[in-house]
Amino acid sequence: MERTLSIIKPDGVKRGLIGEVIKRFEKEGIRIAAMKMIYMSKKDAEGFYAVHREKPFFDSLTDFMSSGPIVVMALEGDNVIQRNRELMGATNYKEAKPGTIRADFATDIEKNVVHGSDSPENAEIEIAYFFSKLEIH
Ligand code: CMP
Repeated sequence: MERTLSIIKPDGVKRGLIGEVIKRFEKEGIRIAAMKMIYMSKKDAEGFYAVHREKPFFDSLTDFMSSGPIVVMALEGDNVIQRNRELMGATNYKEAKPGTIRADFATDIEKNVVHGSDSPENAEIEIAYFFSKLEIH
């Protein structure tokens, strides 16, 4: 049994896609072990995306991620990191497979509706960034 962090980004929340995204997880048998809606400050977003600090898109990405509420979730299931990445589709929605969340709803490489952890190590760090042990069920 594995866990991963999922975020419905400000564009997904603003556009009323919370239910649509959660439906896709639950339909695949992925369990939601923790969930909340939060509004990150610029500093919170910079901390979360610290690995991208040197990237040219860092400032714009952290502005965007602190531009409105987000929904953060810990997802649980067998091989859930990979399964979530398949449901999301490629970071660049133009390369995402048809039927994936990003192919269906993303509007640009930054406003790509969802985030998902890319490895077990990062999943653990990312879940701990938002949730205490008492909030994961
Ligand atoms: P995410 O999976 O949240 O991880 C980093 C985010 O940076 C990515 O999704 C995109 O929303 C954003 N981003 C913006 N520009 C780029 C880019 N050129 N390459 C990769 N990610 C980008």
